[in-house]
Formats: sequence, structure tokens, C-alpha cells
Amino acid sequence: MGQPSSNDSLTVRDNRTGKSYTIPIVNNTVQATAFKAIKAARQQGEREENETEKGLRIADKGFLNTAVITSEITYIDGDAGVLRYRGYPIEQLAVHSNFLETSYLLIYGSLPTRSQSKLFEHEVMQHSIAHHDAESLLRAFRYDSHPMSILTSAFAGLGSMYSEANPSLQGQTLYTKGDAACLANMDKQIYRLIGKATTLAAMAYRVRQGRKFVTPPAGLSYTGSFLYQMDHLGEEEYKPSPVLEKALDVLFLLHADHELNASCTTVLQTGSSLVDPYSAIAAGCASLYGPLHGGANEAVIRMLISIGSPDNVPAFVEQVKRREKVLSGFGHRVYKTSDPRSFIVRKTADEVFKVTGKDELLETAMRLHEVAMKDEYFIKRKLAPNVDFCSGLIYRSMGFPLDFFPVLFAVPRVVGWLAHWRQMMLQPGGVKIWRPRQVYVGPSVRDYVPVDERGQDEASSKNTAPTPVVHMGQSKRTMLASFKGKSKL
Ligand SMILES: CC(C)(COP(=O)(O)OP(=O)(O)OC[C@H]1O[C@@H](n2cnc3c(N)ncnc32)[C@H](O)[C@@H]1OP(=O)(O)O)[C@@H](O)C(=O)NCCC(=O)NCCS
Repeated sequence: MGQPSSNDSLTVRDNRTGKSYTIPIVNNTVQATAFKAIKAARQQGEREENETEKGLRIADKGFLNTAVITSEITYIDGDAGVLRYRGYPIEQLAVHSNFLETSYLLIYGSLPTRSQSKLFEHEVMQHSIAHHDAESLLRAFRYDSHPMSILTSAFAGLGSMYSEANPSLQGQTLYTKGDAACLANMDKQIYRLIGKATTLAAMAYRVRQGRKFVTPPAGLSYTGSFLYQMDHLGEEEYKPSPVLEKALDVLFLLHADHELNASCTTVLQTGSSLVDPYSAIAAGCASLYGPLHGGANEAVIRMLISIGSPDNVPAFVEQVKRREKVLSGFGHRVYKTSDPRSFIVRKTADEVFKVTGKDELLETAMRLHEVAMKDEYFIKRKLAPNVDFCSGLIYRSMGFPLDFFPVLFAVPRVVGWLAHWRQMMLQPGGVKIWRPRQVYVGPSVRDYVPVDERGQDEASSKNTAPTPVVHMGQSKRTMLASFKGKSKL
């Protein structure tokens, strides 16, 4: 880190007042709150909502350059294509470590000794069995529910089963005290959430298949147990394929954390109100569900299916350039070169395809990759394949349904979310609730207008009035029916 020298500062001159301000730079960062001291008088005609006298605000739509936490967990250099967990390059971990060992590393900060590893694995696997009541919760879903909707609800529902884990019931310092009891309580929720992530995901899978739930087996690895819970139909000594078990383990390791992406930020934002970790993880799950984040691997396959054949790739790319389509699996907020995980995913794909056979969409994907990487549009914008470009093809060749792909992302990401949540709960100085600011550009103060005096103009402009909708279940019969003597038409 190093001590800041006297030159480690930023001098800002406010041309409105002629005043200069010196703001310290620590770790190449300035505090946004320092800018609050930069105040000026409201100018003639200036809106009071600008709050000019209260100090300068920093605007950053989409968090393009705002650091919201100090972290020791994951480092990404997006220009160089570098990803490290607690300092260890992802390439080394993918070859030498496994998912649970890497989970320990992410959460507790160092690689475990043999006995620490044994304890952690034992606790996680021991806590994989879900509360019996979770079964009825999961059974309440329709057979065609998206599994991410099920998983999100299941995590939130799980929170209702552990009153001792709820700061609303046990006191708000439950996770922030940092004493032995606090750490032990936190660890228990961590074991439960990682252990049950595969169980809930497998249950979401089986609900849709109309299958009975399977109790997590003893003696299998984390991903082996997951495959067993999804696929076992009563065969004696059922053992998942070791190739698929290993491939899933590598993919889980690669997906375990990626610092402050949308879902992790959501977990921290939600957790900053000191809500229980189950609710915070459910919020993260909801954020990950979106097609710009964890839904991208599903979107890649839908895109490849819609392209149809490698011959249609150039026409598709032209549509992307005209902004009629999005090239899913390309581009990243942080990486401006190939995502380092994408190389490991491609190697893993080769191993999987050896046993499953090549996916029929592979050729289209390879052609798309080739065309996009040579095209000026993508080169200029530094758009390269991200981890989702290939992972979907592996999941498809393993036979997972398309809408299950985001679940395969969410399950391992529970680890990253928990690592960041734990770090925030224990950070020096306590937790500060995340409450960003806005730039208010709406109407200034105005008086209420009685309904008969309101003009049409206000209510009828684009997107400022509700749209009438066709009601579900509306039919010719219901339209011709009458209610209290009045026709519905
Ligand atoms: C990941 C993503 C949301 C990052 O968004 P972002 O950091 O806000 O980047 P922007 O949307 O500002 O993109 C910068 C430029 O590249 C273009 N762009 C970004 N991703 C693109 C894509 N996948 N296809 C086509 N154009 C893309 C944008 O249109 C924009 O062009 P412009 O400057 O001419 O307006 C975005 O790249 C994307 O939507 N990718 C596809 C979804 C995906 O694979 N997500 C998984 C991420 S792991």
C-alpha cells in the first residue's frame, strides 16, 4: 500500500468561486465525500433541487468509475486479461485446486491446510440436506417455472427457517460484532448456504421433471453430489460421470467470484441494511438472472439456435452492427481483451466433448468468433468473448436444459457473494448502509390540481400515463357477458 506522500493529492479549482481544494489520493483513489466541501451560492434562476449550496455531487450512472468498498478478495486487470483470487492466478487454481478448496480461499483468505480443508468440506456437505419444509415450498412451483425464479424464492424461503440467523430477530450486531460467537454463527450460515445451493438447484430441476427429491448422498464430491441429486432415479450405486463431475468442478471454480459485478453489488447493497444472508443471497440471485449478467450463457445458445448455420453468421453480425441484435457472450464491463476464464472454458469443453460428442452449434459459434474478432466494429470497441460464450455449449452438451444455465452460474457464485458479504460485515468501522444519491431533474414544487381542472397534455404524453392491457382470460364469452346489468363492451 505504502504511505501517501505530500504529492499524493488532487488540487481542484472551482471556477464558480475561484476557490481551490486539495483532496488526498490514497491507493489511487479520492473520496467522493471530499467533493461535498466544494460549495457555491445558487446562481440566478438555478433550480433549488441542484442543492448547489450543499456541495458538489459525483454522478456515475452504472458505476463506471466508483469504488464502493475496499476489498482483499479478487483482483481483475481488464486490459491485461488478469483474474486472481486472493492473489492466486485463476489459471493456477483451475489446474491445481478444486471448487471447495477455492471457496475456502475466497472466504477465509488463504489456502487451507489439510485439516482445515477437511473440516470445511465436511461442514458444507453435512449442511447440504434441506429442511423438510423446503420441499413443500419447492413443490408449490408450476412445472414450467424458470428455475432461476425457483432458486431465488428458495433462498429467500430458506431464511424463514433459521430464526437464529436473522438480525431482525436476534439484534442488528449479529454479524458485525466480530467475536467468536459472531464468527461461528456466520460460518454456520456460510456452510448452509453453500451446502444447500446444489440441493435447492437440484430440487428446482426435479420439480420441473416431475421427479421425487433425492437426499444428498454421502461420499461424493460437491459437483458429484449435485449431479447425483439431479439425475439419480433409483439405480443401485449410481455414480455420475467423473469427466462431467470434474468439468463442472472447474466451471464452478471459474464462476465462484468476479468481484463487484451486478449480483455481488446487489448482495452487498441488500446486506448493508443488515438483513439476514439468505435474503441478501436471494437478491443476488435475482440480479444474476438478467440477460446482461448470468442469463448471458442461456442467451448465447438461443442466439446460436436463431442463427441456425455458420453460413448465416455474416448476416447476423451485420444485424448486430446495425444494433438490431446483440452478440451475447461478447463484451464485458471490465475486460477489454479476452476474458481469461474463456480459455480455460474452451479447454474444459474439449474434455467434455470427448465423452459427449461435439455440440452441433459449435461450428456456428466458432464461425461467429472468427468473424467478430476480425471485424472493425468489435475491434474498435474492444469486444471479445467472455466466459459465457463457451460455457453454454458445455452445459448443452452435458444435457442441461437451456433455462438451467443461469442456475449453474448462480450456485458457485453463492461462494463469492458470501465472501464479500462476510468481508463487509467484519470490515473495520462497521457497516454503512448503501444509500446512493440522485440528480433530481423532475418538477420543482407545484400545487395540487383538482381533477376537473387538469389538462389532457400532462397525462397523455409518452410514458407518463398507464397503458390499458388485454386481461388474461378475456374471451368473446366474457366480453359478451354483463355485470350488474351492464355490458362489459
Ligand atoms: C457485458 C455488457 C453488459 C457490458 O456493458 P457496458 O460495459 O455497459 O458496455 P457498453 O454497453 O457501453 O458497450 C460499449 C459499446 O460496445 C457495444 N457493445 C457492447 N457489447 C456488445 C455486444 N455484445 N454486441 C454488440 N455490441 C456491443 C455497445 O453497443 C457500445 O457501443 P457504442 O459505444 O457504439 O454505443 C455488454 O458488453 C453486453 O451487453 N454483452 C452481451 C451480454 C453478455 O454477454 N453478458 C455477460 C457478461 S459476463
